[in-house]
Amino acid sequence: MIQKPKGTKDLLPSESYKWQKVESKVKKVLESYNFKEIRVPVFEHTELFQRGVGETTDVVQKEMYTFNDKGGRSITLRPEGTAGVVRAFLENGIGSLPSPVKLWYNMGMYRYENVQKGRLREFHQIGAELIGSKSYLADVDTILMANNIFEELNIPNIKLTINSIGCPKCRSEYQKILREFIGKNLDKYCDTCKTRFEKNPMRILDCKEKRCKELNIGAPMMIDYLCDECKEHFENVKSMLNVAGLKFEIDPGIVRGLDYYTKTVFEFIDEKSGLTVLGGGRYDGLVEEFGGQSTPAVGFATGVERLMEIYNEYNKDVEDKKPDLYILSLGELENKKALELSLNLRKAGYIVEKDIFERSFKSQMKYADKIGAKNLLVIGENELNSNIAKIKNMKSGEEKEVKLLVEDIKNNI
Ligand code: HAM
Repeated sequence: MIQKPKGTKDLLPSESYKWQKVESKVKKVLESYNFKEIRVPVFEHTELFQRGVGETTDVVQKEMYTFNDKGGRSITLRPEGTAGVVRAFLENGIGSLPSPVKLWYNMGMYRYENVQKGRLREFHQIGAELIGSKSYLADVDTILMANNIFEELNIPNIKLTINSIGCPKCRSEYQKILREFIGKNLDKYCDTCKTRFEKNPMRILDCKEKRCKELNIGAPMMIDYLCDECKEHFENVKSMLNVAGLKFEIDPGIVRGLDYYTKTVFEFIDEKSGLTVLGGGRYDGLVEEFGGQSTPAVGFATGVERLMEIYNEYNKDVEDKKPDLYILSLGELENKKALELSLNLRKAGYIVEKDIFERSFKSQMKYADKIGAKNLLVIGENELNSNIAKIKNMKSGEEKEVKLLVEDIKNNI
């Protein structure tokens, strides 16, 4: 039997109804901040991610699904959403809409990762991008919106960690200092880190190799070298989060795995598993990097598979929808009546099941019970002749007489 590729998951009906519930709750939160949905292509020109996410990131160097299409163009399955959304923002002139532009998405992402708990090769992200405001107030709103998602989903024990990774101005100074630190042991780092040393030493702090992690202990941190503007921005973010009453920790170790970030970065961590369930930050240079006018932005994305794992832990009694009615019938004319009633009740929004096997009364009854139908309507010869039948509430056992008319049935289920 052909099996699914490593790192992918089938979403089965036993899970999909929970996904729908979570997706609609998250959508409600995003819409309450007036974010509008955007959908962008699954694949983009490879260059978009090389330039946006960064040549020296793990995502670009090791994890992209890249191939040449039949026309010889280099194409990549999106590993994240921000680059595609910003491209769409520019390409469609969305920037001429009143600023800020607030966009959200729920899309599949593709990364060739080492598969382990919480790390898939096809996964989904619900993300939000707020494009146009450079104010710390936009960072705070974005973080609060992310936090609202966990509240709405009834998920406790999520820790918010924040950091500032400065702007190109303060970063170039910091990079010199970081190179001095790393340079002392450069020969002991992995080959990828060595290639990052000149181009982008901050990415070395993000390396997942054990020996590199150990060598990085005690490295100077960006947060200690912020310029005045970045320092003030970060102070304002912190004090406004305090005003909002949202607890946070400062983690100078957050560098994020993507190059476009500037100033505030943040992660929401599930304290039980230690996994980052949502990550984001400010990216003031990306719109310009893609050829637009200098436009600040801030956003985040949450991994839906990770979110679902945690949601399921705290929301065990969530149930799928059950049929409102099973119409039990036997015989040609009775089946015609069942067909007519089911058609009209379904149009009216009810979930209705009926026999499509020509099964016996007994086995129809068994089936109705197995699928958890809330009500049962029996149509036999007598019911058809009198146009009156009984509806049984399967939970309470209570029976009511109804006319075999849609309106009357609707009033009794
Ligand atoms: P990211 O931190 O790479 O950021 O991913 C965001 C979230 O996606 C992670 O916190 C995690 O929950 C989930 N995730 C990432 N990789 C995997 C994986 N292999 N398997 C399962 N879940 C995963 C971004 O992608 C940015 N675009 C977020 C952003 C939006 N920043 C600003 N705007």
